[in-house]
Amino acid sequence: MPVLSVQGEGGPSVLHIGESLRSLSRYLPPGKTVIITDGHVRRAYGHLFPPVEVIEIGTGEGIKTLETVGRIYEALIDCGADRSSFVVGVGGGIVCDLTGFAASTYLRGLPFAFVASTLLAQVDAAVGGKNGVNWQGYKNMIGVIRQPEFVICDPALLRTLPRSEVLSGMAEVVKHALIRDAGLFFYLEENIRGVLELRSEVLERLISSSLTIKSAIVNRDEKEQGGRRLLNFGHTFGHALERAAGVSHGEAVSAGMVLAARISERKGYLAAGDRARLERLLTALGLPLSIPCPGEQLRKGLAKDKKRAGDTIHFVLLQALGRAVVEEMSLDELEGYLPEAAESRELVQKQTNIEHRTFNIEQRSCSTAQRKAGP
Ligand SMILES: NC(=O)c1ccc[n+]([C@@H]2O[C@H](COP(=O)([O-])OP(=O)(O)OC[C@H]3O[C@@H](n4cnc5c(N)ncnc54)[C@H](O)[C@@H]3O)[C@@H](O)[C@H]2O)c1
Ligand SMILES: [Zn+2]
Repeated sequence: MPVLSVQGEGGPSVLHIGESLRSLSRYLPPGKTVIITDGHVRRAYGHLFPPVEVIEIGTGEGIKTLETVGRIYEALIDCGADRSSFVVGVGGGIVCDLTGFAASTYLRGLPFAFVASTLLAQVDAAVGGKNGVNWQGYKNMIGVIRQPEFVICDPALLRTLPRSEVLSGMAEVVKHALIRDAGLFFYLEENIRGVLELRSEVLERLISSSLTIKSAIVNRDEKEQGGRRLLNFGHTFGHALERAAGVSHGEAVSAGMVLAARISERKGYLAAGDRARLERLLTALGLPLSIPCPGEQLRKGLAKDKKRAGDTIHFVLLQALGRAVVEEMSLDELEGYLPEAAESRELVQKQTNIEHRTFNIEQRSCSTAQRKAGP
């Protein structure tokens, strides 16, 4: 069973890949443990939890708020959690983000851990120490960086995961392959059937390769001052699309990666053949190459990107499959690659082949008023 680690400022975080939820009790410290989970996960897997207090929260991005954190504090007080208590989030990225934030702030910080139950959480969200909530429409705006003591990634839990949630995780696996691991990209290409059937040996390979990449990047730059920005590949446009078009994170990131690859090609960094190969892989996985969305809304979403610094964004470009670079780009330049609203509508009608299913990044247009939208 592969074991990796993230060396956080406050100590190491151990990642157990292929470990079972059933074994959770073996990893718990002596003293009181409280589990935080959501209703779906509790119904499916509550019988495997160790006999400890359980706080159940709701589901959906809408509950990733300070109000929910407040309710978690109340429940922690009700069940007598004190400075010696330990908190475990069992669930997807939402449970992990909320648990990490609530545990990091309750009584100035309790130790915590995760059992990641979605593919997205196992390959991404549960690892790296980012914990937080959304604020007034701004995603992950309030939060802390603090590492979980350990993370258990149990692939057996993924059997009950809805297909759309599997796809969300797959988009992050492709992202990891693109920024750092051409071998993982080729493995995905060659094992499409195993990937789609969620074969356990394939899942374990995808999880451990993804976490090897993510933990190595986080180990060098826990606070995202440099290399960690690579992990935002596909996410600048992805987050904007997620906000503007209301699609899932995975779908948005998939289309965001295609846009970023096309910009990389336009700038002369990426070979057209590699860009096409990426599009073929995403299509084979069932991920979209574009999301119909009015250019104006996309522009507003871009301006709301919390990672922008003034009028520039650290944008991640591809130089090859498995090699990415961060470049400071102005919002003006990025907006120039966005399609116009009318053109996006046209694109909806034209979704007949790969070329027509991607945004036309040749189109350049923006106005100062539009650029000023957002915070
Ligand atoms: N902290 C980070 O570094 C980081 C990185 C990426 C994403 N995120 C965050 O992660 C969140 C998304 O996470 P997610 O995609 O895991 O979504 P999620 O937590 O909402 O889980 C998706 C759905 O699947 C259900 N579910 C969970 N495990 C299941 C299982 N084993 N079987 C059946 N159903 C199950 C959940 O109840 C939920 O309805 C977003 O809020 C995003 O911002 C955080
Ligand atoms: Zn993501």
